[in-house]
Parts: sequence; structure tokens; C-alpha cells
Amino acid sequence: MPMTIDDITLAARVPPGPRGNVVLGSIGDIYRDRLRFVLDMARMYGDVVQYRVAHLRMYQVNHPAGVERMLHDNHRNYSKDVATFKTLKLFLGNGLFTSDGDFWRHQRRLAQPAFHRRRVASFGELMTYATQQMLERWQARVSRGQPLDVAREFMRLTMEVVTRALFSTSVERNIDTIGRAITTLVNDVTFRFTFPFYPPLRVPTSRNRRFLAARATLDSVVYRIIAERRRRPAEHDDLLALLMEARDEVTGEGMSDKQLRDEVITLFVAGHETTANALTWASYLLSTHVAVARRLRAEVDGTLQGGVPTATDLPNLTYTRMVIDETLRLYPPAWITNRRAIEDDIVCGYRIPADAIVSISPYVTQRDPTLWENPEGFDPDRFAPERSIGRPHYAYFPFGGGPRQCIGKGFALMESTLVLALLAQRCQLHLVPGRRVQTVAMATLRPRYGMWMTAHPRSSL
Ligand code: HEM
Repeated sequence: MPMTIDDITLAARVPPGPRGNVVLGSIGDIYRDRLRFVLDMARMYGDVVQYRVAHLRMYQVNHPAGVERMLHDNHRNYSKDVATFKTLKLFLGNGLFTSDGDFWRHQRRLAQPAFHRRRVASFGELMTYATQQMLERWQARVSRGQPLDVAREFMRLTMEVVTRALFSTSVERNIDTIGRAITTLVNDVTFRFTFPFYPPLRVPTSRNRRFLAARATLDSVVYRIIAERRRRPAEHDDLLALLMEARDEVTGEGMSDKQLRDEVITLFVAGHETTANALTWASYLLSTHVAVARRLRAEVDGTLQGGVPTATDLPNLTYTRMVIDETLRLYPPAWITNRRAIEDDIVCGYRIPADAIVSISPYVTQRDPTLWENPEGFDPDRFAPERSIGRPHYAYFPFGGGPRQCIGKGFALMESTLVLALLAQRCQLHLVPGRRVQTVAMATLRPRYGMWMTAHPRSSL
């Protein structure tokens, strides 16, 4: 007799996992070192793991086939109705990153044309322009041999890039105000991820007041820009203009001011810290792998012949791109994401019950020794086409996957490649001896003590 769906569900196994503390479950291990914890879970228990956080049962899916099931094959069964996204909603509102279901699908359709390859390519010049300005800012310190915290520098750079891509010149006066407000809000939600029982915003603690003030400042700037644009449309050629032009195919309606605000702030936040982290970790890895750095410089010098890189150079900067790909394997900035299962599911032969909170982590899967040779080693050549044959698709997913794959993937890869090429052409970055380098798993994978480096102009080497 053929098996029914119920038989199959019953036959599925319960995933293995640690028992943890009787009351707290695995909270202690998670707080001690989150990255160590998720890696250990995979190494000790395999493809699908379950553990407890106090009374909550959590699932962690590590195998590429399981990741593919969640992000692609059965993606409709996995919603973003989880604590992380609810916390982010406090200031991102209901934008592309945090929304779900039909609302999200509608918004994604509206926003997608703004990220068309040709559109993204048109931002190349502002990316290299901002990088050149950053190198000029560095000059005084470079000539005195003073170190720089490149993590901070890249954060400022990517913030400038995304600000100009979104608003072109309409934020000149407000760029620092926006930057400060966003930094306050991002740091605050990072705190709330770690301390989920912190009093809600309606309780007037000093932290909550600071949060509300930063959100009000940000809102007033963004709403003012939107209002100015509504009065004088068609004067700009930026992401905001494209979002404002977007129309629903059926109703012909555009986005409301509130929806534009949510999408703009979402792109702002999603679009800078991640890329800044990628550049920071790439600089770190290059400074500790001399042969890779040498090969990168040779490619850049040969391809650019001293010129400033443009989007048309990208197909010839293949090794530079492999350096980025490999950096995102070892240090995926968006290192984990969570979903809630809507109905029961079976993932890699294990039962995932309805309502379960399930996490997937590129940090874990991308360091899996059964999928990657020498997984802890920095080896950009593993992304050469001949060495990528046979690798499961979801062995590598720094940008997520399926319909909810990062909408800014093309933007981020272009920005990282152009910035890295320009840096390699102009200078070498060396780690300052004795400075500590440690990863900390916050909302993104950051260097805990910054990344202190000295920059050495190539011409003087
Ligand atoms: C290296 C840089 C970046 C990395 C590693 C990255 C990673 C990711 C990942 C993993 C997701 C999926 C999250 C999930 O499924 O829960 C995502 C979604 C998203 N990213 Fe990125 N991202 C980067 C840069 C950018 C940039 C530059 C932008 C915009 C300019 C952007 C905008 C977004 C948005 C709007 C979403 C939500 C998409 C949706 O659900 O429809 N990201 N990103």
C-alpha cells in the first residue's frame, strides 16, 4: 500500500541535539560564543539539529539540500514571523527585508526593476568616486604612517555610496544626520537581539527615548525628501526616483509615502554594513595571504593599465571577484537567518513541526568539511569554474536564495569588486602588529576591535 502524507511525516525522524541546562537549555553556550555554538551543533549532530532556548525549541538546518528546501522548494512554508525580523521592524517598518507573503511579493515586483543589471552598472562611477575621496582622506595619516580602522572607513564609504545611489544629490546637507541616526538605530536593535526581554519602546527608558529620537530624525529627513520629490518629479536619476515611478501592473497605483519610507530605510540599512564588512574581511585576508594579494595586484594592473575601474572592466577582474567570493564564504556578513515553519515539513528526513523556529547559517554550511576541502583556508581559486563543478548549489549562499535572495546582490558584488580593485591599484594594507582581530556575531559578522591597518601607497613601495 502506498504511504500517505501522514505516514511519511510519522516516519520522519526527530532531529538530534544537545540536552542543555534543565531550565535554560543552550542559552549559556549561545551567550558564551554564538559562532562556536552553531558550528559545534553542525559538527556534533549533523544535517538538522534541534536545541532549546529556555522553553523555545529551535531547529538548525545545515545541509545544502535542507537549505534549498527552505529557501527555494518549499519557501512558502517559511515565514519571517520571528523575533529578529519583528525587532528590525521597529525602524525598518514593513519594507522588503521584513515583510512577508503577498505584501512582500507585491513590493518585490515593484522594486525589482530598480536593481536591473544596467541600472546597477550606472552606479559604478559613484562607487569609484567615493573610493577615491576616501583615499584622499587617508592621505594625511598615510604620510605620517598612522594606522586606520578600515572597518570604520569602509562603513563610511558604503554609507556614502548607498546614500548617493538612493538620493543622488538631495541629501548633501543631511548625510551626517542620516548616518548618525542609522548607526544609533542599528546598534540599538543589535542590543535588542541580545537582550530580547528589554522593555518595549512605550516604556520611557533612556535607551528607548534615544531610539525614538533617532527614528524621528531619520523619518523627518526621509519624508522631507519624498515631499520635495513629489513636488518636482523627474529631476533625479536614482533609486528613490525609480521606486517613486514604480506602478502596480493592475491598479496603476504607486507606493504611499510610508511605504517609500520603509523601502528606502531598508535599502539604506541592508545596503551598507554588509558590504563594508565584506571589504573589511577581504582586506584582512589579503594582508595575511601575500601570494593572493600579489596575484590580485597583477590582475588589477594588467586589466586597468593605471585607469580607474568601471563596470565594463568587471568581466576581466575575475580573480578580484573570486577573492570577494571566497571572503564571503569565510565571513558571510549576513551569517544567519531565521524562519518560522507555517506547516509541518520534512527536511533531510527530519520532521520540522508547524510553528518551529528554524535557522540556516551560511557561516556553518560554507565551512562544512564534507562540502569544502580545507574549509578554514583562504583559497579564492576554489571558485574557478573547473573547481566549482559538482558543488551543491546551496553549499554557498552568502546572499540567501530562492525568491527572497538579496535584491542588492549585483550592487554589492559590483561595489566590492570595484573598491577592492581600486584599493589594490593604489595601496597595500597591512595589519598593525599586536592589534587583536576577532569576529563577533552581531546582526552582521563584525570585527570586535575594528580592523587597524596601515596603508602604503603603491608608488612608494
Ligand atoms: C555583501 C553584501 C550583502 C550581503 C552579504 C547581503 C546578504 C543578504 C541576505 C543573506 C539576504 C536574505 C536574508 C534572508 O533570507 O533572511 C539579503 C536580503 C536583502 N538584501 Fe542584501 N546583502 C548585501 C548587500 C545588499 C545591498 C547592497 C542591498 C541594497 C542596496 C541589499 C538589500 C537587501 C534587501 C532589500 C533584502 C531583502 C530582499 C527580500 O526579501 O526581498 N543587500 N541580503
